[in-house]
Amino acid sequence: LISRAFRHQFVIPDFQGFCKYIEEFYWRCKNNTEGKVAGYIPQLARMNPDYWGVSVVTIDGQRFSIGDTSVPFTLQSCSKPLTYAIALDQLGADLVHKYIGQEPSGRNFNELVLDYNKKPHNPMINAGAILCCSLLKTLIRHEMTLAEKFDFTMNYFKRLAGGETIGFNNAVFLSEREAADRNYALGFYMRENKCFPDKANLRECMDFYFQCCSMEANCESMSMMAATLANGGICPTTEEKVLKPDSVRDVLSLMHSCGMYDYSGQFAFKVGLPAKSGVCGALLLVVPNVMGLCIWSPPLDSLGNSCRGVQFCEVRIT
Ligand code: DON
Repeated sequence: LISRAFRHQFVIPDFQGFCKYIEEFYWRCKNNTEGKVAGYIPQLARMNPDYWGVSVVTIDGQRFSIGDTSVPFTLQSCSKPLTYAIALDQLGADLVHKYIGQEPSGRNFNELVLDYNKKPHNPMINAGAILCCSLLKTLIRHEMTLAEKFDFTMNYFKRLAGGETIGFNNAVFLSEREAADRNYALGFYMRENKCFPDKANLRECMDFYFQCCSMEANCESMSMMAATLANGGICPTTEEKVLKPDSVRDVLSLMHSCGMYDYSGQFAFKVGLPAKSGVCGALLLVVPNVMGLCIWSPPLDSLGNSCRGVQFCEVRIT
């Protein structure tokens, strides 16, 4: 970072000027009172709707945050591109896509539907993410116990976040598992259609999926993860090569086409960047070769995207 500073070689040369824009956009969205906090489990329903934070990390490690960026939240569906990335990195795209498609589903994220090949449409919706967790659980070092696989995955998340804290919210995990009729229905439906790899144990795969959704981070560490994706899999601060560039390319492609629920097409049209949202109200946004952002505010629109998050991404400079 320091040598780049001396050489005036930052990817965003006038970072302070750039941050002024981020600040301005932040304040513009602050008064947005649209949307409702997710209510399907008490821990999410209790989230303060006023929380609003934006964090940025450039691929050369410059950082800026504004608002509630150190408050932890559970990753929820923002874990989906991460588990997909690990599966790709460990197993290769051919094997992963023997089980999971690459098409936007055009349906709700938890819809009971498979594509014409009897595969879940993509890894960014629940069916695809559950299957992805089964690949992680079953095909990568099968001898690991569920506990070891949890550590293995959490450690990956941590390395993506440059070693910053990744927690686990056990109350959310237990509630997710209690409120999971639809997710179990998806699991059984996929098992009926022989979607899972041979050795998969459905109960363990579901638990693992709920655990990934219940991992906890804040806006700052999530923006570091987004920046690692923006930087082709190399963490900007630790310079560790966490993911192969090919894995990152595939993750970004599907974030671009499928990452924003049933708003993915419009988001791709209006914003044109890979993104992934979750019911926690977080939105991971990747500007390839430039920076990663995490934009977080719990109130969601009818499709499940953060209202302030989408507004922020769509702000136009006038
Ligand atoms: O599977 C669920 O219902 C949640 N734990 C994750 C939901 C979420 O963020 C929606 N995603 N696509």
